[in-house]
Amino acid sequence: MNSRRDFLKGTAWMGAVAMFGGCEALKLTNGGTMQGFVCAPLKKVRVGVVGVGRRGCWAVERLSQVPGVYVTALCDIDESRLVDGDKAIAKSGKPAAKHFLTSPDKPHDGYRRLCESDLVDVVYNTTPWQYHVPASVYAMKCGKHTAIEVPCCMNIDECWELVETAEATQRHCIPLENCCYGDSELLALNLVRSGVLGELIHGEGAYIHDLAAENFAAYKGSKFFTEYNGTWDRWRLKWNQKLNGNPYPTHGFGPICQYMGINRGDALDYVVSVSSREARLTEFAKETFGPDSPEAKETYALGDVNTSVFRTFRGRTIMVQHDVSLPRPYNRINLIAGTKGILRDYPLRVALLPHAHEWMKEEELKALKAKYEHPLYKTAGEIAKKVGGHGGMDFMMDLRWAYCLQNGLPMDADVYDAATWSCLTELAAESANNRGKSINVPDFTRGGWKTAEPLGIVNVDLAKLDFGDVKLHGAEGQFKKEL
Ligand SMILES: NC(=O)c1ccc[n+]([C@@H]2O[C@H](COP(=O)([O-])OP(=O)(O)OC[C@H]3O[C@@H](n4cnc5c(N)ncnc54)[C@H](O)[C@@H]3O)[C@@H](O)[C@H]2O)c1
Repeated sequence: MNSRRDFLKGTAWMGAVAMFGGCEALKLTNGGTMQGFVCAPLKKVRVGVVGVGRRGCWAVERLSQVPGVYVTALCDIDESRLVDGDKAIAKSGKPAAKHFLTSPDKPHDGYRRLCESDLVDVVYNTTPWQYHVPASVYAMKCGKHTAIEVPCCMNIDECWELVETAEATQRHCIPLENCCYGDSELLALNLVRSGVLGELIHGEGAYIHDLAAENFAAYKGSKFFTEYNGTWDRWRLKWNQKLNGNPYPTHGFGPICQYMGINRGDALDYVVSVSSREARLTEFAKETFGPDSPEAKETYALGDVNTSVFRTFRGRTIMVQHDVSLPRPYNRINLIAGTKGILRDYPLRVALLPHAHEWMKEEELKALKAKYEHPLYKTAGEIAKKVGGHGGMDFMMDLRWAYCLQNGLPMDADVYDAATWSCLTELAAESANNRGKSINVPDFTRGGWKTAEPLGIVNVDLAKLDFGDVKLHGAEGQFKKEL
């Protein structure tokens, strides 16, 4: 568990970094905590997007509609993806980006050249999971801020590598957890901060999304073959073959951590995790490709349903569930319960004392929603819906981190959140593979959680954002289906 930490603590990597041609800004301050970290305002934000796939292409389209944000560089292993990225930028009327095409035998070459260039301030990482940490660590070592799709890192070593690199380079490392900006999640956060639910005691979040067909979509010749051939190289299916537990924890977990002020007033103490057996992917493969197909004979380590339960230092519990294969409706649960009431989503329901034995009636819920609508939603909800991305929350996320950078504000979620929300990728597997044994959760803040302030009710000032020069349009990437 400590190998990469030792590497980072040593000076060897500084020498290695110094060898990178043209890679400036290696002002390694070893500068301490990133909690509350701010930079001088950066009015024009130049973004390099690495991995212009389904998610990345969509991001290019959204980012090009944020005032003051310019996608100046695109990197991918597949040239057709760069062309689609160009089309996404062109819709906004903003200038074309430089291409960094990389080859399959040199997968690290493209993003390295992009990070070393002086074209970008932020490296926006929408690659498959195995490239999240290598590309974003490299970006920070090249003096760039980085934003990473979720999960940000795939094991505890990688969590520490992100934390220690951000601290050493004093660069932002932003987890792209769009679900923190969903309308129900923002409503819940506002209810919590207003004290309506009382003292928080328990939360539940999940990623329940039947991706069985999506996982196999890259199969050429199958009925799931799409023009874009599914995910690149069936990368997600390959993770399911080797990793049990919860490889995709953050959509349900991140918002609950924000409600409870995890890393900011409270911290995760320990976790236990249990997985069901795997059945659905094998059954799906047999039915779709035949019982003798390689897909049907493959072993999938990922149990169909994984359930993890955390206890925090302040005595709260959080349940996090993962199921990407059983046929059932999409659900992130989004449940937060306190001493005065409860909010739960899918569909959105609230129950409050003194009538907490029953969910609120429709009219009462409507009035509560109107009263506690999050100010960020009030300000930018209409614009976000126009651009879209999971109903607007993706645009809200991009608008907010860019706004923070442009105005020298701390990020809503930082590198410690990136590590904490993602660390279940290793912890769930370790616990589930060992009869649900209890595992201590690393404190990536090294005690900083005791004094850090919880995320407040943040907003943007539209007067500081010039939407006048932006052509707003619905962003759908090249693929209409949302993942
Ligand atoms: N937040 C969300 O709602 C959400 C939704 C979907 C996906 N995601 C995340 O987005 C990321 C990408 O997922 P996706 O569905 O777009 O996958 P994808 O396979 O469609 O896209 C990945 C892209 O990365 C490219 N790529 C592969 N290796 C590369 C390399 N070495 N250098 C540069 N580019 C490389 C591929 O060619 C492809 O274009 C994942 O981390 C996933 O978890 C998040």
